[in-house]
Amino acid sequence: MTTLLHVAVSPREGRSHSRRAAQLVLDQLAEASADLRIIERDLAATPLPHPDAAFVEASLMPDADRTHAHRAELALSETLIGELEAADSVLISTPVHNYTVPSTLKAWIDLVVRPERTFRRTPTGKVGVLADRSVLVVSASGGNFDGAHAQTDFLMPYLRYVFATVGIQQVEGIRLQNTARGAESAVQALDGFSQELAARMLLMPLVA
Ligand SMILES: Cc1cc2nc3c(=O)[nH]c(=O)nc-3n(C[C@H](O)[C@H](O)[C@H](O)COP(=O)(O)O)c2cc1C
Repeated sequence: MTTLLHVAVSPREGRSHSRRAAQLVLDQLAEASADLRIIERDLAATPLPHPDAAFVEASLMPDADRTHAHRAELALSETLIGELEAADSVLISTPVHNYTVPSTLKAWIDLVVRPERTFRRTPTGKVGVLADRSVLVVSASGGNFDGAHAQTDFLMPYLRYVFATVGIQQVEGIRLQNTARGAESAVQALDGFSQELAARMLLMPLVA
C-alpha cells in the first residue's frame, strides 16, 4: 500500500485551478495504484493557527522539561508531523500568493518544521530528521514565471529549502500559469499541465 499526503491550500475550493490539477493527479494515481491511501489535509477547510507565545515556548524547550500543558500546545504540530511521517509521498496543491506560498501553507510549515523534532540543530547547521520521500508541488499563478516579463519565483526555491531542512530532498514542481488571463488561457494552463505531468513522468515517484 502507498500512502500519499495531499496538502490542499487554495481557499477557492470548487473554482481553484490548483485543486483541479491536483484532482487530475489523484485520479491518475488511483488508476496506477490500486491500493493508494490518501491523507487529505485541507488548509482552507481547517485553517491552522499561526505560532503564538505558548507554542513557541513549548517548541523551543528541551523535551525533558515539558509539562502536560506544553505537550498539549504541540499536539496539533504532532498530528501534522505524524501525517507527513506516515506518507510515502506528498502532493501539495497551492496558489502562488505574492510570489510565494500562501500564509496558510506557511502556517503548516511553521508547525511541521520543528527543532529537535523534524530537524536537529548542530554546530554545522540544521540536519533533517525525516526519511526522504517524493514531494510534488502543483502551483497555480495568475501570471507567468517563464518567458517574457516573468515574475521571480520565491515559491519553489523556498519549498525545496524547507523540505531539505527536514530531510526531504526529492521535491519536484509543476506550474499552471496565466490562470488570471481569461478562460481560454486557464484551459491552456490545465492542458499544458497535463502534458508536462506526462512528459516529465512526475506521477511515478509518488507511487514508487
Ligand atoms: C492574495 C493573492 C496574491 C496573489 N499573488 C500572485 C502573484 O504573486 N503572482 C501571480 O502570478 N498570481 C498571483 N495571484 C493569483 C493567483 O495565484 C491565481 O488566481 C491562482 O490561480 C490561484 O490559485 P487557485 O486557482 O488554485 O485558487 C494572487 C492571488 C491572490 C488572491
